[in-house]
Amino acid sequence: MANTRKATRIGIMTGGGDCPGLNAVIRVVTRAAIHQLGIEVIGIEDGFLGLIRNRMRHLTSDDVSNILTVGGTILGTSNRADPVRFAIGKDASGMPIFEDVTPRVLEHVAERGLDGVVCIGGDGTMTGAAALIKRGLPCIGVPKTIDNDMLHTEITFGFTTAVQTATECIDRIHSTASSHHRVMLVELMGRNAGWLTLHAGLASGCDILLIPEIPYDLDAVCEACERRSKRGKRFTLIAVSEGAAPKGGHQTVEKIVHDSPDPIRLGGVSTVLAAQISERTHLETRATILGHVQRGGTPVAFDRVLATRFGFKAIELVAEGAWNQLVVQQNGHTSTVPIESVAGRQRTVPLDDPLIAMARAVGTAVGD
Ligand code: F6P
Repeated sequence: MANTRKATRIGIMTGGGDCPGLNAVIRVVTRAAIHQLGIEVIGIEDGFLGLIRNRMRHLTSDDVSNILTVGGTILGTSNRADPVRFAIGKDASGMPIFEDVTPRVLEHVAERGLDGVVCIGGDGTMTGAAALIKRGLPCIGVPKTIDNDMLHTEITFGFTTAVQTATECIDRIHSTASSHHRVMLVELMGRNAGWLTLHAGLASGCDILLIPEIPYDLDAVCEACERRSKRGKRFTLIAVSEGAAPKGGHQTVEKIVHDSPDPIRLGGVSTVLAAQISERTHLETRATILGHVQRGGTPVAFDRVLATRFGFKAIELVAEGAWNQLVVQQNGHTSTVPIESVAGRQRTVPLDDPLIAMARAVGTAVGD
């Protein structure tokens, strides 16, 4: 690899929710930049917040030692700081007052002498990066998310680890479901995409899978539980996405984070459903919300390799001066698309996804 475009110093940041594998990207980008290209690396703290507040630090090869197996991100992250719409205070009613602080970001970038920034994040971070690109800051995007919902890439790192974690949790709940003869609901993250539920639900042999892409029919869900009960199956295990909603109904919102670019936090659908199922079927029902346990922990080997592959591609792009691209995986190969093509867009589960057909084939109901 040759530094043909003579970049001398780059920034690197992690934005949005954390996920396993972020540190593997920071490690490969830092080491390859320093040792193979002679480029200095500046770590930006807490995503866009570090660019806004000028909180950055020089990264050495030693700084990224022993981080490959560590979950989260050594740089910190934030899913609330959008430079174009940054909350600078609150009005009399307590609502945030927003300001476009990109001029401040560009000043800090110039002050630090950055040729560009490697932005590791999801669609929210890429929306922010696309806005900065328009204002003249070169960026390279590296996709991450446990939700696996980034457009144009068939996989993001963090997803496989989250599937493994969620599967292990569901396996544990399986024991209690069968011992106590209960209907047990397990709620998984994923926002508006059902990837996590589909994969973890299939892997753990759930009896019913409810994903946002297939609005559920409460009668059908209750009938599936009762059918199992009549057949002598003494428990039913249901994996439900936080974004699942009844036919003709709405998603369950846990809270609104007003100063976040994506303010809606979903959560609680399993609790609502548990009450409804128990009332209608008289079967003892419980709900467990897995929550942030799905985002933490050491990345599985697959995610360490994928994150390293994506990070290496990012540094190759820096070397070529091919800025403003997002690293993606398409047909099993590492490739690129323009960052702006994914900004604010999500990849949900298509209704003809083979996993849905496989779920049905093994007798799993999908709530329709
Ligand atoms: O995008 C990752 C994710 O974990 C989603 O699955 C979830 O809806 C959201 O982030 C939760 O965000 P927060 O950490 O702000 O509660």
